[in-house]
Amino acid sequence: MKVPMLDLTREYKRIKSEVMVKVESIFDEQSFILGKHVKELEENLKTYLNVRDVIGVSSGTDALLISLMSLGVGEDDEVILPSFTFFATAGSVARLGARPIFADIDIETYNISPDDIEKKITKKTKVIVPVHLYGHPVEMDRIMEISKSYGLGIVEDNAQAIGSEYKGKKTGSFGIAGCLSFYPTKNLGGAGDGGAISTNDENVSRKCRMIRVHGAEKRYYHDVIGLNGRLDELQAAYINSRFKRIEDNNNERREIAKKYNYLLSDLQVKELLFTPVEKTNCKHVYHQYTIRVPRYRDKLREYLLKNEIGCDIYYPLPLHLQKAFSYLNYKEGSLPNTEKISSEVLSLPIFPGLTEEEIMFVSETIKDFFKHI
Ligand SMILES: Cc1ncc(COP(=O)(O)O)c(C=O)c1O
Repeated sequence: MKVPMLDLTREYKRIKSEVMVKVESIFDEQSFILGKHVKELEENLKTYLNVRDVIGVSSGTDALLISLMSLGVGEDDEVILPSFTFFATAGSVARLGARPIFADIDIETYNISPDDIEKKITKKTKVIVPVHLYGHPVEMDRIMEISKSYGLGIVEDNAQAIGSEYKGKKTGSFGIAGCLSFYPTKNLGGAGDGGAISTNDENVSRKCRMIRVHGAEKRYYHDVIGLNGRLDELQAAYINSRFKRIEDNNNERREIAKKYNYLLSDLQVKELLFTPVEKTNCKHVYHQYTIRVPRYRDKLREYLLKNEIGCDIYYPLPLHLQKAFSYLNYKEGSLPNTEKISSEVLSLPIFPGLTEEEIMFVSETIKDFFKHI
């Protein structure tokens, strides 16, 4: 049996006819940029996240960039963020001339550690970017306390976590801004690149809307320097169709995770691997189902691939050790939890439509591997 890491065609089949009608009407109307579908998506997400405004933008990366620009982040500023995340989280900070300051992660959730954040705050710190990695919320009470005590802005990187909750409140609604990605593989993916910014702050919302269109509130009158950060209609129409199923899809992911947890529990007891945790008061949406395999990660990966089971490592090299950030002078050993975890994680197939047989097959193959070592 072949099990793909991700198969988007299974979900697409459920919405294909609706999507095709929309695509035809967009082409018939020849209305491609920032039209009614983008408005509808912004309204849908506003209600879903329970925030004052949502601004559709061109990608998750641009959501981060535009949010940081709206807060005036630039040269001489420091931004604290995890090193164990996708490159865009720190890349957007560096592109503005600000300095990324990497904090270590919690060994259980793999999310940024509030204790380490506090150690890294200086007079130059302007913003903290917590990342709700793999779909598990960051401990937002602590983050918001830090924000208050030190007067720092919080920009949530919510790219992997649409629908996840901390104490019953959706991620993306805590900070001054939250950033979503609609990259096709995300829990709410588009048919290309797309993203959105959520905010409860009127000023941030106005600025982000301006920056998205080259800093102009009134067409051809530019108050600030922005960029082309617009979301297009085809993307928004497709995302709106997928949005109707977001709760069902996230629940399906949670069910799949529960099955894996159960099937792999023996190996967890033997400490051969560790299944993902869901902390009290947290709702995990399992963008990734990521196990931790202390000694045999790479061998297990090879074994699964040989048996035609998709699996991947997110992320094999933490950002503080990437060549692009060598100018920051981080040395190996400077973020011990991050370095340990990145050498042990392995993500297994999880997506709406993954069958019971496939989940069983993946789990049995993992058990087989451990029988032979
Ligand atoms: C944690 C994180 N931040 C930011 C991004 C950037 O999003 P995008 O690929 O839509 O630019 C991604 C997704 O790729 C992500 O996983």
